[in-house]
Amino acid sequence: MEQTTLNEREIFLDIATEAVMSAGVILQDLLGQLEKIEEKGRPGDLVTEADKKAETAILEVLGRRVPHHRILAEESGKLGAIESDYLWAIDPLDGTTNYAHSYPMSAVSVGLLLGGVSLVGAVYNPFRRELFRGARGLGATLNYRPIRVSKTTELSKSLLVTGFAYDRRETKDTNYPEFCYLTHLTQGVRRSGSASLDLTDVACGRLDGYWERGLSPWDIAAGIVILEEAGGKITAYDESPLSIESGRLLATNGIIHHQVSQELNEALPWLKSFYK
Ligand code: IPD
Ligand code: CA
Ligand code: CA
Repeated sequence: MEQTTLNEREIFLDIATEAVMSAGVILQDLLGQLEKIEEKGRPGDLVTEADKKAETAILEVLGRRVPHHRILAEESGKLGAIESDYLWAIDPLDGTTNYAHSYPMSAVSVGLLLGGVSLVGAVYNPFRRELFRGARGLGATLNYRPIRVSKTTELSKSLLVTGFAYDRRETKDTNYPEFCYLTHLTQGVRRSGSASLDLTDVACGRLDGYWERGLSPWDIAAGIVILEEAGGKITAYDESPLSIESGRLLATNGIIHHQVSQELNEALPWLKSFYK
């Protein structure tokens, strides 16, 4: 496995930044101007010309600056040098449903994984002009200022966020019971519609925790390193180490992590028995 120096990570972070900024301009220009909105397979799983144009812009940057790396892009699939240990996971428009309705809560997410571990990430919300960046050992920033997770200590005083995957009509694992249950125990649970922004909003302390299932590596590759570098914690629901391929994660300020995990794992079987 390759090792990276801090200097190399800084360079990769600049590449990720160039990529998200170039796509962000496209998303800004096309908001409310879409001519074509299609479904990708599952009902509600949309793709627009904005997703495709933004992805093309990102691929141009990566193709020019790191042609020897692998790529996993949401709309184009696997690309690049298959022998490379480096994998760029790209979500050109995270929050497509919001975007298709001209609801300006979306972002571009570009993360670099090394051996499945999130090394570098940039997430840009062009509608709030917010650029989140993070790299292992180099900290996390919002518009180039350091960020930290919240200091909330009690679940009852926390504000959480979650999401519902596109397979929710085909599975019993809908996340609806978890949503209801944790809404009851906290000051609220939000559903933003953009997984990358959920992670970065926990990273900068606006939210105290986030959980979701059914995610893809491109949704979370960038946000993971940003949140961890901001002092947050990310694991599987049961606090075991995160596997990015599982698509299921619990991300918090660290302080309430065990409390949320307990509620997700211990209280839910009891709650679900009422839904049978
Ligand atoms: C979706 C968003 C949403 C999450 C879904 C994702 P997309 O990504 O991140 O918040 O709940 O699971 O698929 O389709 O807008 O790129
Ligand atoms: Ca996404
Ligand atoms: Ca997307």
